[in-house]
Amino acid sequence: MTDELYPVPAEWAEKAIINADRYAAKYRESVEDPDGFWRREAQRIDWIKPFTTVKDTSFHEDDFNISWFGDGTLNLSSNCLDRHLATRGSATAIIWEADDPNERGMTISYRELHSMVCRFANALKAQGVKRGDRVTIYLPMVPEAAVAMLACARIGAIHSVVFGGFSPDALAGRIKDCDSSLVITADEGLRGGRVVPLKHNVDEALDQCTSVTRVIVMRRTDTDVPMTEGRDIWWLDAEAGVTADCPPEEMGAEDPLFILYTSGSTGQPKGVLHTTGGYAVWTSMTHEYVFDYRPGQIYWCAADIGWVTGHSYIVYGPLANGATIVMYEGVPNWPDPSRIWQVVDKHQVEILYTAPTAIRALEREGDEWVKKTSRKSLKLLGTVGEPINPEAWGWYHSVVGEGRCPIVDTYWQTETGATMISPMPGATDLKPGSASKPMFGVKPALVDDKGHILEGAVSGALVITDSWPGQMRSVWGDPARFFNTYFTHYPGYYFTGDGCRRDEDGYYWITGRIDDVINVSGHRLGTAEIESALVAHEKVAEAAVVGMPHEIKGQGIYAYVTVNAGCQVDEKLRTELIHWVRAEIGPIATPDVIQFAPALPKTRSGKIMRRILRKIAEGDISHLGDTSTLADPAVVDDLVANRPSNA
Ligand code: WTA
Repeated sequence: MTDELYPVPAEWAEKAIINADRYAAKYRESVEDPDGFWRREAQRIDWIKPFTTVKDTSFHEDDFNISWFGDGTLNLSSNCLDRHLATRGSATAIIWEADDPNERGMTISYRELHSMVCRFANALKAQGVKRGDRVTIYLPMVPEAAVAMLACARIGAIHSVVFGGFSPDALAGRIKDCDSSLVITADEGLRGGRVVPLKHNVDEALDQCTSVTRVIVMRRTDTDVPMTEGRDIWWLDAEAGVTADCPPEEMGAEDPLFILYTSGSTGQPKGVLHTTGGYAVWTSMTHEYVFDYRPGQIYWCAADIGWVTGHSYIVYGPLANGATIVMYEGVPNWPDPSRIWQVVDKHQVEILYTAPTAIRALEREGDEWVKKTSRKSLKLLGTVGEPINPEAWGWYHSVVGEGRCPIVDTYWQTETGATMISPMPGATDLKPGSASKPMFGVKPALVDDKGHILEGAVSGALVITDSWPGQMRSVWGDPARFFNTYFTHYPGYYFTGDGCRRDEDGYYWITGRIDDVINVSGHRLGTAEIESALVAHEKVAEAAVVGMPHEIKGQGIYAYVTVNAGCQVDEKLRTELIHWVRAEIGPIATPDVIQFAPALPKTRSGKIMRRILRKIAEGDISHLGDTSTLADPAVVDDLVANRPSNA
């Protein structure tokens, strides 16, 4: 296979912070002398008490430990705000663009953001929030979301942001798991012209949660929402009577910063725990190098704050670097498919970071939506969340970027805190579809089934053999689950869950999840989670969920459902189950295909043969492989014969 190659443009090689020589030298140093490398890189952060130890880590069971800059202290909100005031106080921190193009946006300077955060931090304290308490944030994409996160960081409270698209049940599960005492929400959210009933969802969720004693409600749409006496308070009322003077709490480098729930291959979503010091260094460094970011540049990460991309590349990384960020409330294709490019023009965005699924969806609408905008301001493009197919990459590069903007395809995970494998625009020749080369300090390896490291140009399971500063530190409330999930498949290594190929040039090509996680439009969903939602329905006896290829979403959700004896299977039940899953988890978990099956293919020991279900979902029925170990091979024939027409 010959891959297309896009060499580093001369002007990038000349002007970028990291060029090819610097990349090579810094990478070598980062893996040969991690202590020296990170001691220097960590100077980008203002420490209250400087650290003396740098890296203290082991992935082995007997001395398992992950600690970075362990004895240093800092406050991340003051790194994102206070330290910029002297030099960049009047510079713009946030340019906020509303969902509706006719609604006036907002521009917030670092000085203003600082006082908003301090005031709200004091409001949280006045509501009884203390260092170490968990605060759940369930907000739309409004500046207040960043304010709430930074206010928590300022007082040492641990935030857990829940994506506004999650259902009341999903929200309740996340509140209960970390025992939040306070929820921050809005009356309603606005997205793509539609209203999201956030406060209503919180009310419903709180019927199931006893830990929450306070709800702070921001007014977004100004609709009337019921307020529970003694529990609910308006944002502005909570701020009444507090000052904007809030000294930052001195946090240990390894004190928790946030919890973010993400799906895995088993059980319910787990609370990924990130701590303060390493995460600060890691997000700030990767943001600067991968985006070649210089203060003053307008940078837009079009993710939602409810995902890790929003945490690391809308809030913490960019603001630590004094960036001017665009924060957009809506969706890329509303009111029409030109919107994303209009926002680029309106705010003269230089760096745009979005997801392959959005690119594919916009490409399908035709080039004219793009071409009627200027996009002259764009200098660099980025993608994240799933593999980008070379075809979509080509469109992003030639049509959107008119061939002049390098694309950084950044591979990482909620667990990794920030980018692990990615080009740097001044250093890396690009191959469409490849996330290319490891970030400083990242030691990727490909292993076979037995965990042996494979050399050269091969495919295997992607592991990381040593720790990096922004690595997750634990699963909230369940350290054993952390170790078992990531460090037992291939002892001594962190297992990503992804499959990967490495080519002759040492470029990495992520091929997608090899565990039971599906990636729908860049959103992670565990098959187990969707299955447990389905079997919670009174008519469902058993369910098995697998991913299927989907042109726009990357992967779609294919559910095999066995109903209880005597239950009628028809279109009505199909629709009912689709609505059921949406209500249980949220619209992102909507099954694309539901196939009713009299039985599921199982081994004699009763294990569902997912491999076969995946093949049928893919329509690859001529390659079902060995079915002789099945308890009842006839089950497969029935599944093949009765694939639904929309599969
Ligand atoms: C996938 C999102 C290929 C991968 C930041 C990973 C990617 C999962 C890429 C993590 C990429 C993310 N190329 N695959 N550039 N970026 N992935 O936790 O399967 O929501 O394991 O983090 O997305 O998803 P998560």
